[in-house]
Amino acid sequence: MREIKVNLSERSYRIIVGEGILGNLPDFIGSPSRVLLITDTTLYAFYGKTLESVLRERFPVENFLLPPGEKGKNIKWALGILRKAILSSFDRYSLFLCLGGGSVGDTGGFASSIYMRGVRCIQVPTTLLAMVDSSIGGKTAVDFYGKNIVGTFYQPSLVISDTATLKTLPERNYLNGFAEVVKYGIIKEPAILTVLRENREEILQKGKILESLIFQCAQIKAEVIEEDEKEKGLRMILNFGHTIGHALEANSKFALWHGEAVSLGIVASAYISQAMGMIKKEVLSELEDLLSLYSLPTRYERFSSSRLKEFLQRDKKVKMGKLRFVLMKNLGEVEIRDDVPESLLEESLEYLKKDGRNRRAF
Ligand code: GLY
Repeated sequence: MREIKVNLSERSYRIIVGEGILGNLPDFIGSPSRVLLITDTTLYAFYGKTLESVLRERFPVENFLLPPGEKGKNIKWALGILRKAILSSFDRYSLFLCLGGGSVGDTGGFASSIYMRGVRCIQVPTTLLAMVDSSIGGKTAVDFYGKNIVGTFYQPSLVISDTATLKTLPERNYLNGFAEVVKYGIIKEPAILTVLRENREEILQKGKILESLIFQCAQIKAEVIEEDEKEKGLRMILNFGHTIGHALEANSKFALWHGEAVSLGIVASAYISQAMGMIKKEVLSELEDLLSLYSLPTRYERFSSSRLKEFLQRDKKVKMGKLRFVLMKNLGEVEIRDDVPESLLEESLEYLKKDGRNRRAF
């Protein structure tokens, strides 16, 4: 078991990563007046039911089940959670416990941030993507007329990542998380890319190495959050590959999953970086090889560039009409730029449509 402290004065919290730690959860959560276990219908059957009975030995517990996937990340479900809390007389000393992937964490985290002006929230991520990224840092949101349009910055009071829960994760969902892992290698720690390259078999079999990999990614995220909690500057580096990624994800109506869209966004951003003379061409192809090694898409053609540009204009990083991109200066170093020519943006989108390996067809 490993532990990271996220230092944010009175909003500080711990991230605990370990195998088989879910059963010890009641020891970590203090003494809430009530617990609302928020999870999805699939995870409830896998882990939620057992966890609920373990919690019930010590606390009054209610559950709220979301539909699996992006469908649950909707304002109507967030309102459902609030309604359940009100009807079950949850007070300000209660705890919302989010067991699941990014959608459960985002919706449950959002509901916790606005219920009675904020109740304690514990994130228990069960997907690789949520363990390395979305459960940490306090970004909560639901989709409303667009992805992540309504949300808050609200730090959890604890994050518990039990790597054993990854064992039941379907392959596509597991692989989806590696785009964020690759991202950390690009923005801060190139050694992560080497680990991914050299230990593919063990990683795909969810071996021991996974714990240290997740720990390393969580540590990078924690350091960034400590310096820039509300994304005034540095935190934007965590969005490497996400500007184009989010637009592709939304345009596909979520047929492309978040990590898959980010993988394509990484390719397009690396393409722009090499075209602007910031990195060598070989770096782009090395990254494509690595993403392909984890079966992440590096080519995709089911979009029109003009439609995608409309989505890009709605990106939250747009400032005074100017799109801001996180670009690569080197492996392990990125820079925020708002001077990407529109023609180069279009060229990078065309590049995604070119022949190449790992073309995603849907
Ligand atoms: N997923 C990017 C962030 O938390 O800032």
